[in-house]
Amino acid sequence: MIELKDVVYCRLGTTDLEGAKWYAVNILGLEIAGYRPGAIYFKSDDRQHTLCYFEGNPEDQTTGFEIGSADDLNRAGATLDKLGHAVHYGSREECELRHVAAFIGFKDPMGNQIEFVLRPDTTAKAYHGTRDAGITGFSHVGLCSNDLERDEKFWTQVCNARVSDRIGDAPLMRLGTIHHSIALFPFHKPGIQHINHQVGGTDDIQRSFNFVRENQVNVTFGPGRHPTSSAEFLYFTGPEGMTFEYSSGVVEIHDEPLWRDRQFHFEPKGFCKWGSAPNIAAFKD
Ligand SMILES: [Fe+2]
Repeated sequence: MIELKDVVYCRLGTTDLEGAKWYAVNILGLEIAGYRPGAIYFKSDDRQHTLCYFEGNPEDQTTGFEIGSADDLNRAGATLDKLGHAVHYGSREECELRHVAAFIGFKDPMGNQIEFVLRPDTTAKAYHGTRDAGITGFSHVGLCSNDLERDEKFWTQVCNARVSDRIGDAPLMRLGTIHHSIALFPFHKPGIQHINHQVGGTDDIQRSFNFVRENQVNVTFGPGRHPTSSAEFLYFTGPEGMTFEYSSGVVEIHDEPLWRDRQFHFEPKGFCKWGSAPNIAAFKD
C-alpha cells in the first residue's frame, strides 16, 4: 500500500505565461512565490508553492502528492513498476524545480500525470495574496476518469485513499482527515478537472462571486453548498479553460473506523443543497 499524506501541488502548462500569472494574482488571489526560466510559482498557504504555471502544452497537467519517507518512495516506485506503470525518478534539477527532496513521476491508470514527492518545502513566510480572496490553502483536485471503478481501485487499493462519499459512481476520496483530497470526475481525456482552494467563509465565497463576475470570469457552478462535504462553493473558469473552485467549511473525518461512505445522485441534487446546477459542459472543454 502506497501511503500518501496529502495533495501538495499542481503543475500546469500554458501558452500564455504572463496571462496565467495575471489571472493567478489578480483573479485567483495567489501570491508569487518565485520565478524560474519559463515558470512561475504561486503560494496559497505555508507551503513554498502549491501551483506552478510553466511555458508548455496546456494539456501537460500534473498533480503532486506527498509521501512519508524515502523508503516509502522507493517502495512506491517498485510497486508501480510491478503494476506496469513507467516510473520516472526525478533528477536533482527536477527536484529543485519542484522544491522537493525527491520524487517519482508516472501516469495513473487513466493517464493522469502524477508525482509522488518527498519532503516538499514549507516556508516560514505566511501567504499574503494581493487580492483579498480569503484563501486559507490549496486543498484538493478533481482528476478525470473514463473508468471510475478502475481508478477508484487504483487510489484506494494501490494507494491509501479512502472513499468518503460517491456522487453517482464518482468517488470523493480522502488521504487524511479532510473529506476529500481527490475527486474523480467522469471525462474521456486525462487531466485535472478542477483545482480547489479553501477560503475563510461565506463572505469570501459571496464576495468572490461578485468579484469574478465583475471581471467577466465565467462562473460554472454556484454559489452553493455540497451535500457531501458540507462545503460552500464557487466554481469558475481560469486560464486554458481550467476550472478553479473556492470552498469553505469542508467536513473533517476524525472517526475514521466509524465513517461509512454515502451515495448521492449524480445531478443535480448530489452536487448542491441550494439548488445551483453545475454547467457540466463548461467544466471541461
Ligand atoms: Fe471540489
